[in-house]
Amino acid sequence: MSQATRDAILQQVRQTLEARLALSDQIPQLAEDVCRILERTVPWYDWVGIYLVEGDELVLAAWSGPAATEHVRIPIGQGICGAAAREGQTIIVPDVRQDPRYLQCFLSTRSEIVVPIRQDEDVIGEIDIDSDELAAFDEKDRALLEWLASELAERLPHHRASAA
Ligand code: SME
Repeated sequence: MSQATRDAILQQVRQTLEARLALSDQIPQLAEDVCRILERTVPWYDWVGIYLVEGDELVLAAWSGPAATEHVRIPIGQGICGAAAREGQTIIVPDVRQDPRYLQCFLSTRSEIVVPIRQDEDVIGEIDIDSDELAAFDEKDRALLEWLASELAERLPHHRASAA
């Protein structure tokens, strides 16, 4: 796929997400819709989930993809998801088979991006996307998903998390 095609798809999904975010309803329906929009619009997003922090765990709140994951609760600090929550920073893994932190969900997954959802310094959740393509995620995916994370943070209840 050309860079121009990728850019056009990311621009299109951002417009769809902006329209959805403009509607007033809240989590969990909003989280489910966001996962579905991302997974169905972007061909290299094969599984999309949103985890929310509960105590010292990440709990799967919504997902879209071909199959359910067994990792519905992930302790903060474990896996790529737990590392991103602990660090409060986006993690892009170009080849999950080379990363010892990786917790496998699907045999077909080759790369992953995890973007924390933050309220001030607190991590309250994250967006987790798996791709069947190697090195599927670049800085444009990061920019889109970090924008989305900040939009979701404004719509989630404020609370202190234990991840910070
Ligand atoms: N691969 C993640 C676990 C969650 S699944 O991708 C849905 C990780 O390493 O934390």
